[in-house]
Amino acid sequence: MKRFEEILNAAAFTHGDLVRLLKAEGEEIALLFEKSTAVKAQHIGKRVWFRGLVEFSNICEKDCLYCGIRHSNSHVKRYNLSDTQILEAARFAWENRYGSLVLQSGEIMHPAFADRIEHLLCEMKKLTKGELGITLSLGEQPHGVYQRWFAAGAHRYLLRLETSNQELYSKIHPEDDHHLFNRRKACLESLRSIGYQVGTGVMIGLPFQTYDDLANDLLFFKEFDVDMVGMGPYIEHEDTPLYASRNELMPLQERFKLALKMIAVLRILMKDINIAAATALQAIDPMGREKAVKIGANIIMPNITPGLYRNDYALYQNKPCVDEEPAQCRGCLDARIALADTEIAYGEWGDSKHFRQRAQRKRL
Ligand code: 5AD
Ligand code: FES
Repeated sequence: MKRFEEILNAAAFTHGDLVRLLKAEGEEIALLFEKSTAVKAQHIGKRVWFRGLVEFSNICEKDCLYCGIRHSNSHVKRYNLSDTQILEAARFAWENRYGSLVLQSGEIMHPAFADRIEHLLCEMKKLTKGELGITLSLGEQPHGVYQRWFAAGAHRYLLRLETSNQELYSKIHPEDDHHLFNRRKACLESLRSIGYQVGTGVMIGLPFQTYDDLANDLLFFKEFDVDMVGMGPYIEHEDTPLYASRNELMPLQERFKLALKMIAVLRILMKDINIAAATALQAIDPMGREKAVKIGANIIMPNITPGLYRNDYALYQNKPCVDEEPAQCRGCLDARIALADTEIAYGEWGDSKHFRQRAQRKRL
């Protein structure tokens, strides 16, 4: 235990230290969470920021082996919200003082798609008098497209690397030109160079993933100096090829526990970044996101996709809240966050403090 506490309170972590922290059990987990809670209180405070999540289309050109909405899954009923529906969702977020919105969809790399998003961004900015922050989560795109969307008003971009281990990446993606680890990584560089606040993340508890891999993921976040991280447990989906490897998985509750440990260690490692409490946590434990907020996360993404379509955006099974309407989600979240001794920062963009400080350093 002594050795564990020494590591926990050290000024910097080696790869071996991170593995040791991620392997915490029993009393050690309590110490880890105590420390990450204190770091969050000191550097972030008790507040949590909302991003209204609009999953506006489940049409996807890619075929990731783990994802329920992959192109080859013919059981999925495909949908694509109209521009009017998307703008209504933006109005809902703005009127309910969510501060920001995340536009997410399956991945489509096409000029007409790029034009559509650019147009929507301009309309959203007008509609909300420039007050609503806009995050995009639309996958890999050409540099020029990222630039146009930034110019049109998007200021944050989420692109999960899924794993920082190239070999593992190739086990969970088809081996073709559309699923290249290095291209995905290059996209993160491209987003950073344009000026976006960049978020990335990984799945936790993937088949064939090791503690070494997860420690390397954390070191990758640090080395890339990310502004935001969203990471959650991998949850198998029976209509995907990776389902065949389900015997390699650790039990769901273990994956959940490991995901919380990853969030806690990351909070200690990168004190002032934004860390999202992933929805996948709630798919395992009804209070999963609140538990994450308690020990380090500071961002929650309530789903504001019109209820009708939520069932069809099933990246994994048991996705929570698929039967609810956006207004119901708000009531439910207020109560839940209160339980975790946290205040919701309504009406604020909630930019990553880390981003602002890096930008300031650059100007000096
Ligand atoms: N389990 C957990 N997370 C998943 N994602 C996709 N499929 C799954 C799954 N089966 C995550 C990926 C993706 C994000 C939008 O959802 O990390 O980047
Ligand atoms: Fe759609 Fe991976 S299956 S981006």
